Amino acid sequence: MYNTDFVSRFLKERLSDQKLPLYVYDSERVRNQCRRLKEIPYQNNAIHFASMANANPEFLSLIHNEGLNIFVNSKKHLELAIKTGFSNNQIIFTASSLSFEMLDMLHEKKIAVNLDSIAQLEYWVANYPDTPVGIRFNISSDKAARSRAGYFIGEKSRLGIDAEYIPEELKKHVNGLHIYVGTDIMDVNYFLHFYELLSERADDFPNLEYLDLGGGFGISENEEFDFTGFGSKLTEMMNGLSAKLNKSIRLILEPGRIVGADSAFFMARVLDIKERGDKKIVVLDASTAQFPRPLIYPDESHHPLKIFTPEGDLKKDNSVKGMVVASSTYSRDIFNAEISLPEIQMGDIAVFGNAGSYCASMYTEFLGYEKAKEIML
Ligand SMILES: Cc1ncc(COP(=O)(O)O)c(C=O)c1O
Repeated sequence: MYNTDFVSRFLKERLSDQKLPLYVYDSERVRNQCRRLKEIPYQNNAIHFASMANANPEFLSLIHNEGLNIFVNSKKHLELAIKTGFSNNQIIFTASSLSFEMLDMLHEKKIAVNLDSIAQLEYWVANYPDTPVGIRFNISSDKAARSRAGYFIGEKSRLGIDAEYIPEELKKHVNGLHIYVGTDIMDVNYFLHFYELLSERADDFPNLEYLDLGGGFGISENEEFDFTGFGSKLTEMMNGLSAKLNKSIRLILEPGRIVGADSAFFMARVLDIKERGDKKIVVLDASTAQFPRPLIYPDESHHPLKIFTPEGDLKKDNSVKGMVVASSTYSRDIFNAEISLPEIQMGDIAVFGNAGSYCASMYTEFLGYEKAKEIML
């Protein structure tokens, strides 16, 4: 949720020594989210932060100090994780297809990996028959829904392996089953529906050690994700599975967005104001190349925007019809195509919330704007 007091305090106390645009993080909020994730009652669990959501080295150090592990999907993030201090057994690698060279490297470093195709599984078993490996599952269900930007599970998804294609003789080499059901989801029962379908498959894998249930936990302006309800339902399911298989199955989660999303704010100065019909066009001294979610998902990114005076006071009474745009010439460089705004003056500060996940990490060099600085308070 948007922490107006945090923003106002920052602007009052620190704005004068900062160059905008800027990302500002509330570290305490990140720590709290890490702690909530760790409170899941099922004991045999490991929480692996999804580095794709935020790969800022300082952010990763904070996560590491809070005792979370890490999930990576590229060589660069793997190197970053190791540099941050995560030990190899705290890292999980889940991607889509991986080169055989990459698979060899992960095996050599003893990093747990979830494979995404039969060809990869065959290669792994042929070369490392004594090292069990995880696989990423796809599960068909008429409940599979589009979340945020697309399909992550079910027939329309490009990811995972469908059970019927896994050769019988390879199943004994599989020690982990992975799924990722979608992103930014608030409905606890949606997760549980797929988790249960996955756990029903467990019997087919005699050497199963873990279920990796991915991430996807949502952020909302109106409510917090129900970790208590989620944790207790998941614990019940995992206890049932462990009892059924007569061994303790490890639970792995790979949360990304929820860890830092509403801890951070993207701040930019109002550079210019133009009028068009009944609309004010507010131009920021920034580009969506620096805050790319509105560029990539113009209709599906949700970043509450509040306007502050340079002295740090919140401007209220959003009665002006407006559009908030960038200072580049690219016609689609638009932060908000339609929004109600307060009366704005040049020099005011536009502050977007929900800016801590998939924001700074999505920076693009397109248009030639510098990467915005990030500071953690
Ligand atoms: C395999 C996998 N796990 C976890 C995540 C993190 O997801 P979220 O940020 O929705 O929690 C992603 C994100 O794309 C993913 O692909």
